[in-house]
Amino acid sequence: PLEVSVPWPLANIPSLHAGLSRLEYRGYDSAGMVIDGDKEGQVFTYKEVGKVAKLEQLIKDEKPDLDATFVSHAGISHTRWATHGKPSRVNCHPHRSDVDSQFTVVHNGIITNYKELKAFLEGKGFVFETETDTECIAKLAKYIYDQHDDIDFTTLAKSIIKELEGAFGLLIKSVHYPHEVIAARKGSPLVVGVKSARKLKVDFVDVEFSDSPNSVLSAELASQNVALKKLETSTLAPPDKSLLHRSQSRAFLSDDGMPVPTEFFLSSDPSAIVEHTKKVLYLEDDDIAHIHEGQLNIHRAGKGEGVSHIRSIQTLELELQEIMKGKFEHFMQKEIFEQPESVVNTMRGRLDVENKKVTLGGLRQYLSTIRRCRRIIFIACGTSYHSCMAVRGIFEELTEIPIAVELASDFLDRQAPVFRDDTCVFVSQSGETADSLLALRYCLERGALTVGIVNVVGSAISLLTHCGVHVNAGPEIGVASTKAYTSQYIALVMFALSLSEDRASKIQRHHDIIEGLGKLSEQISHILEKDSEIKELCHKFFKNQKSLLLLGRGNQFATALEGALKIKEISYLHCEAVMSGELKHGVLALVDENLPIIMILTRDDIFRKSLNAYQQVVARGGRPIVICNEGDEEFANEKCEKIQVPKTVDCLQGLLNVIPLQLIAYWLAIAENLNVDFPRNLAKSVTVE
Ligand code: G6P
Repeated sequence: PLEVSVPWPLANIPSLHAGLSRLEYRGYDSAGMVIDGDKEGQVFTYKEVGKVAKLEQLIKDEKPDLDATFVSHAGISHTRWATHGKPSRVNCHPHRSDVDSQFTVVHNGIITNYKELKAFLEGKGFVFETETDTECIAKLAKYIYDQHDDIDFTTLAKSIIKELEGAFGLLIKSVHYPHEVIAARKGSPLVVGVKSARKLKVDFVDVEFSDSPNSVLSAELASQNVALKKLETSTLAPPDKSLLHRSQSRAFLSDDGMPVPTEFFLSSDPSAIVEHTKKVLYLEDDDIAHIHEGQLNIHRAGKGEGVSHIRSIQTLELELQEIMKGKFEHFMQKEIFEQPESVVNTMRGRLDVENKKVTLGGLRQYLSTIRRCRRIIFIACGTSYHSCMAVRGIFEELTEIPIAVELASDFLDRQAPVFRDDTCVFVSQSGETADSLLALRYCLERGALTVGIVNVVGSAISLLTHCGVHVNAGPEIGVASTKAYTSQYIALVMFALSLSEDRASKIQRHHDIIEGLGKLSEQISHILEKDSEIKELCHKFFKNQKSLLLLGRGNQFATALEGALKIKEISYLHCEAVMSGELKHGVLALVDENLPIIMILTRDDIFRKSLNAYQQVVARGGRPIVICNEGDEEFANEKCEKIQVPKTVDCLQGLLNVIPLQLIAYWLAIAENLNVDFPRNLAKSVTVE
């Protein structure tokens, strides 16, 4: 679930729409928005199940009492990916405090104590309309507001936040605070875009601490373990406003010291903002941002007190066209075809092929510590997990450090032992995946050194880890990850090379790998030329099939896993990755002349063993599709279909072998007329456990 919002003073329906559309790629099942009307206390709320375009149509059909160019001061909107409560209009955000929508909220994340809050508020006469956890925030806002004669928005927000457990990135607006918006984050990303009519004199925002506790309400609640009990019994005095005033700092000053009128855009993802401004600042956990009359004030809440108090304004490097489809039909297709460039971007400035050197600036200070660690644990989910699997062998070979590769959720379920002398590497495209983030916090608490391998700059994992590498694949919109996978894989190989650069015995191996990396881009382009051949093959072999097997072993097991995931994700065809060595231990029972099978059989040290599986399949009448090296004589027969790929160093071969599998997944989904970029039930960033 995601939100976008709040240009001041130019919030209008089209700008909110545009922002939502840019976020749709992260997963959606419904979308909604609320925007101020031009009369006092008037708000317009729209919600619709399905894509953002359906919301747009709904607004057109309803012909609201304001034209499309209507200019307001504040609007908030959201695309939802259901966690609590099924996808439906009523469960869609924004959620409201009451029938007059005095307070409205959009929220990413999960409020883990929502049941208690709901029970408490129901006891106070609130009637809940939805099954969501978010609704309790809006109702809590009204409850606290009603208890006070003269509470300002920031103080109110702090009181709300104090009651919330779990993770959130949220926006609140209210008819009681027209033209104002509150944004708060804890565990879910929020970025503020800043667009000023004049050149900003300062390019950071000073934040003074306003916490600690600044209202009787907060003070009382903070001293209680069970806050709800307190809410019930407290006779609340009005907040101490003097403390609050001190907390406000003027965000932007012009040369003459006067505030500069500024528009602010809030979003969970910079891609919704970039068409308005490239100047952004990232909110941190426990920040409460208050936007009011062209000013931004950031306050601190909860545990964040005393932490960094300056937010620098950064310039996004993201170009709008980078997140547009260009000449391609789908983002996924565009991203597959971008790989000859994205792999180069991952290596740019880091890999010196001529001098056979790798430099990863983000790790430099930590390399010697990592070399001495007792083990390296890779932790990730989905495709990112597969990239870790793909490099396990080369890490073991080059570093000779014990390596573990863990699925974040399973790692946490087991509460696996982690020690101070472990290095924990978190690989994530988004840098926001809840399971990976929780595992990261778990490892930080245990004193391990943490490394982030992340695509999205400014994401939670990149901020929380001690050091790391941005994979620089560029924005990835398609829910099924493609170019991020190849870039993660390369970043990890470069990491392994850096760790072992001082090992004399590995020099030749290093040189071979670096040389191989240097040729990758060209080789990927070469494979992409086979696009129509692969499309044809899909048509011929997989039409009307229900199930398919993908076999690989050694380094290529990870490729099989990743290929099978791609096929499942977007074509909904059941596809199982099988470790070839295990075929004879069970899966062989499925094999007959009808079952479609793809086998990865490129040449490496274990090629002979991989061939055993091939023989076992062919002997049972199977006619596999084989991914093999160009010109391999072994397959110069009629027993199989071939997809030929160039040869590279064994540990890099997976980077080439995965490309035809990405294309197969793509064409299978197209053949079924499926929504390639937004597969059903899936989200790009899974920010819930
Ligand atoms: C979701 C996405 C996958 C992705 C996984 C991990 O399930 O649909 O494509 O691989 O999350 O995401 P991350 O951003 O941590 O790499």
